[in-house]
Order: sequence, then C-alpha cells, then structure tokens
Amino acid sequence: MRIDVLTLFPEMFESPLSHSILKRAQERGIVDIALTNIRDFTTDSYKKVDDKPYGGGPGMVMMCAPVFDAFEHLRQACPTPPRVILLTPQGRKFDQALARDLSGAERLLLIAGRYEGFDERIGTGLEAEQISIGDYVLSGGELAAMVVIDAVVRLLPEALGDAASTTEESFSEGLLEYPHYTRPEDFRGMKVPEILLSGDHGKIAQWRHQQRLERTRTQRPDLLSPENA
Ligand code: ADE
Repeated sequence: MRIDVLTLFPEMFESPLSHSILKRAQERGIVDIALTNIRDFTTDSYKKVDDKPYGGGPGMVMMCAPVFDAFEHLRQACPTPPRVILLTPQGRKFDQALARDLSGAERLLLIAGRYEGFDERIGTGLEAEQISIGDYVLSGGELAAMVVIDAVVRLLPEALGDAASTTEESFSEGLLEYPHYTRPEDFRGMKVPEILLSGDHGKIAQWRHQQRLERTRTQRPDLLSPENA
C-alpha cells in the first residue's frame, strides 16, 4: 500500500512513523508512506496557505490553490488513483469497519488541515471522503491522520507478523476483547481466573466468549447486535 499525506506539519509524523509496527511495516515494504508539505506548493513570497473567510467570522480558512497543486503534483508522480480522505470533524465517524475497508485500498491520500477548516471546494473538487476520528475538535487533522494510518497499516497482511492477532481483538465480530493475564498468577492478591490455568481449551474458549459478551453489554451496549443483546 502507498499512503500520501498532505500536511503543513510533516515533522509531527516523524515519531509515530518511526516506531514499532509502523516502522517495521515500512522497512518490510508493506507500506510506503510519503509526507508532502502543502506550504511547498505556495507561489507567493509569504508562503500563504490560509485566508479570511468570505462572509466574515473568526479564524482562517485553508486555501484551495496550494492543496490542489500539491494533490496534482502527487497524482502526476504516481498514476494509481488514490482514495482521497479529508480529516475533519464533519466527516463520517472512523471505526474498525472503515479501517478494514481502507486497508483494502492500493493507495490512500490523506489531507490534514489546520486553522478553522478547509475551503469547501477542496473536499468537493478533489472528490474526497471526509473522516472524523471522533466527536471532539482537534487543533488540526494531523493526529487524526496518524490514527487512521496506524489503524489501517496494522491490518495489512503480514504487518503484525502474527496473522491471527487482528481477528480476535476488540471490535472484530462487533465485540470487545476478553481480559488477558500473564505471569505472575497472583499479583498483590489479584489472582488470575482459575479457568485460564485449567488447560481445558474448550472451557477457556467458552469463558472468553462469555467475557466478551459481558464486557460489551456493560461497557459498550451500542455495539451489540440484536442476537447478542
Ligand atoms: N480535525 C480536527 N478535529 C478532527 C477530528 N475529530 N477528526 C478528524 N479531523 C479533525
């Protein structure tokens, strides 16, 4: 997969992209992530990327021209048409199903904005999908883009090393994960449930499924399908 990011702050991505799974996935050629600074596509001496909103009001709005120019530059350099994604609190709510869907794309192009928002014509003109990572307002789309990249890349084949590990985790099958324990058996009086020490794999699987249902019912009832409710 190839992921391009258009941003005014490419440095913000350096640390998340250079650790752990994201780092390994890039080293192994599973994903190629390229950062493009929108400011490099300004044409005036002030390198202006934002301007006052028509109609008045507070704040500044990201201008069309530098974003379109950066986008067109990337499109020319690589002919595979990307899924274009604008990170904005106005977008469709990001979830595991959307992460899975995006992980099937050959190429993603994420656009992270700052200021009060984007000129509306950026979304319409670039035919971008709009994604929000939650009902809160961040100072910009960069952190949201990193969340999307992390959630998508770990789903790519071979990214985790252990292929089984994304199928049982939270949200797969619409349920939260069961509780995990490791050594010691007794930590400050808090004991590992007996069943996990029993060696009875059938019973353990049953217990884990029960735990997933119970946790989902108490902590995230909104996730439950009618047959599990
Ligand atoms: N930009 C600012 N807030 C955001 C959010 N919640 N999701 C995506 N992009 C954003």
